[in-house]
Amino acid sequence: MKLLLAGFGFIGKNFIRAVNEKITLLKSVDRDFKVVGVATSQGVLYSSRGLDVDKLSRLEKASQYGEEFEFGGSVKEFLEEGDADIIVVATPTNIETGEPGLTYIRTALKNGVDVVTADKGPLVLEFWELTRLAERNGCYLMYEATVAAALPIFSLYRECLQADRIIRISGILNGTTNYILSKMFFEGTSFELSLKEAQERGYAEKDPSYDIDGIDAACKVVILGNAIMGKKLRFKDVKRRGIRDVTQEAVELAKRSGYAIKLVGVVDDEPEVSPRLVPLRHPLCVHGNLNAVHFETDLAKEITIIGYGAGKETVSAVLNDVLSILKKRVIR
Ligand SMILES: NC(=O)c1ccc[n+]([C@@H]2O[C@H](COP(=O)([O-])OP(=O)(O)OC[C@H]3O[C@@H](n4cnc5c(N)ncnc54)[C@H](OP(=O)(O)O)[C@@H]3O)[C@@H](O)[C@H]2O)c1
Repeated sequence: MKLLLAGFGFIGKNFIRAVNEKITLLKSVDRDFKVVGVATSQGVLYSSRGLDVDKLSRLEKASQYGEEFEFGGSVKEFLEEGDADIIVVATPTNIETGEPGLTYIRTALKNGVDVVTADKGPLVLEFWELTRLAERNGCYLMYEATVAAALPIFSLYRECLQADRIIRISGILNGTTNYILSKMFFEGTSFELSLKEAQERGYAEKDPSYDIDGIDAACKVVILGNAIMGKKLRFKDVKRRGIRDVTQEAVELAKRSGYAIKLVGVVDDEPEVSPRLVPLRHPLCVHGNLNAVHFETDLAKEITIIGYGAGKETVSAVLNDVLSILKKRVIR
């Protein structure tokens, strides 16, 4: 299969490094597997024979690869002309327009190209449209990395909880806010100081509202609700309160009573993101920039998975989605 990667930033580059590391495994599933293209905001790098992933994995910019990089080249054209079988979307998240990922995913699915996305914007806005488009065109649409990054939430649900009725999902879905709250919990620092340190370490953006006002976590609640609980959720349906008002005194008081204050996303009849008291012994009570997702179901009762919700580890989810598609597509 021929893979096209859209986005060669943090995730895109680490994805290519992982492909390079795991090329023997990928080729053992599909001996014709190759990366034929990489797109950035500047243009598209393309070779129908397949790019040298070892060389690519050592580059900072796709344009440094050589003359195969076409400034101004368009991903849409490649998808429409049948130059790719699968696209990995690692473009910046935009939850207002979904772009550029939304157009890439729509174009791919309309042209019979399978999709693996780490960009959650398109799913937050148009989950059902894209799911139906994939079904109608016989394509796979996979998005494990969009919620809690490296945690295999959707595959756990798909493969292991098919017979269960999911009653509720709750999760620590944003690493930045968890880092800030953990610092307040363990070091007794104020919200402002903890946020400042998170920004200095590169965990929080200069404008941190996307994380600390619960916007990012609410996006993940929307995807979980739609993909796992069959809801028809939109971003505006999620009641949302962030962590700006959580004081050091409240964290200390909670701690003395055996609780930690955590920003929890809940998917049930009243989807919500808000700071909640989590008992210190509860499996959701993870610290630092870890994420955790807790399923309540009729048969299994309770299952929690914990792991890295951002960072290089995210490529595990992306690459496993790609491998799952290869295994289903390749007839040996
Ligand atoms: N970072 C994480 O830990 C993490 C975890 C889970 C999910 N994600 C999601 O993964 C996606 C990528 O994240 P990232 O951290 O890799 O972002 P990033 O470092 O900002 O990289 C984004 C890449 O997308 C490219 N791009 C921008 N506009 C484009 C366009 N129109 N067509 C093609 N490429 C375009 C950029 O090109 P230029 O290089 O030319 O600017 C850049 O290479 C985001 O949606 C993010 O939410 C990230």
